[in-house]
Amino acid sequence: MPRELINAGIAGVGAYVPDHVVTNEDLEIIVDTSSEWIISRSGIRERRIAPPEMASSDFAVIAANEAIAGAGISAEEIDLVIVATNTPDTIFPATACLVQDRIGAKKAGAFDLAAGCSGFMYALIVGSQFVSAGSCRNVLVIGAENLSKILNWKDRRTCVLFGDGAGAAVIRPAAPGSGILSHKLYADGSGGKFLNLPAGGSRLPASHETVDNNLHYIHMKGRDIFKFAVRATVRASAEVLGAAGIKLSEVDYFIPHQANVRIIEAAAKRLRLPAEKVLINVDRYGNTSTASIPIALTEAVRAGRIKKGDHLLMVGFGAGLTWAAAVLKW
Ligand SMILES: CC(C)(COP(=O)(O)OP(=O)(O)OC[C@H]1O[C@@H](n2cnc3c(N)ncnc32)[C@H](O)[C@@H]1OP(=O)(O)O)[C@@H](O)C(=O)NCCC(=O)NCCS
Repeated sequence: MPRELINAGIAGVGAYVPDHVVTNEDLEIIVDTSSEWIISRSGIRERRIAPPEMASSDFAVIAANEAIAGAGISAEEIDLVIVATNTPDTIFPATACLVQDRIGAKKAGAFDLAAGCSGFMYALIVGSQFVSAGSCRNVLVIGAENLSKILNWKDRRTCVLFGDGAGAAVIRPAAPGSGILSHKLYADGSGGKFLNLPAGGSRLPASHETVDNNLHYIHMKGRDIFKFAVRATVRASAEVLGAAGIKLSEVDYFIPHQANVRIIEAAAKRLRLPAEKVLINVDRYGNTSTASIPIALTEAVRAGRIKKGDHLLMVGFGAGLTWAAAVLKW
């Protein structure tokens, strides 16, 4: 007889951003841009940039330890570590294995997950399957990024938009009727060309030529991504809310991927979600990719904004193209 599925919920969250603040005015000195342009097109005022010696696993470990403490468990109780990242410390071994070792999750399996900026939502949903199936009790999911290392600081179309940071969550069984109520993963690989890092993989291995041609940096067609992001966020939100049987008016907090205030506001407007329900931090951190949703969630939890029973609508989108959404009852 098939086992009954267990509800999976978030038991603890954590986040970390580097101390060093880079303002738009700082960027005016290094590229041909203006603070006014950056704010009017993206809503970003400043971002955090990691020191050269820090890698993604260093952020991940700090965010993870906060999430583990928040969940009231020890690292040895973790069964699985999933790190979603576009900037792993190395291509292999997986950053998740480095984190697993450093936090002392001695009994856990560990792997990385690549789904562009949707990575945290993908990891949350994938991780929740192990909890729902009863094969894991505690799953640690992390979004960690060191994007400053893959930005071309001479390309004003990209370098002003991104920042560094990490966020984490511990997933474990939740009471019936609470936790993740619905979720969905989406992909459209035909849009892969709009946002990518061309070299360093098996298609275009690292060479002097790839370095000379700036092919180890983020390349992006901003306009195409913008249109996709708004459409994907609205469509995914409607689908997961419908699947959960939750009305838009019952959503307490909308936690979208933080890429651009205009994308967030356009999606919220189409969903008729009022500003006080929309969590925004892209103005302070820029686009931290897989880290943006867990950082926003952690800040709201730390501030005591999210109460038991609140409905959260979380939506990510990014390179792939990928997008993913979930409705949670806290
Ligand atoms: C990138 C983005 C802010 C650009 O805004 P936009 O209104 O679409 O602007 P465009 O790309 O059309 O560029 C308009 C002009 O501004 C210029 N420009 C681009 N970046 C600039 C900058 N930092 N400072 C000043 N001018 C800039 C462009 O060169 C272009 O000039 P041109 O017309 O002379 O060529 C916007 O498209 C966006 O946010 N897209 C989504 C990106 C995203 O979210 N990516 C991550 C997904 S996870």
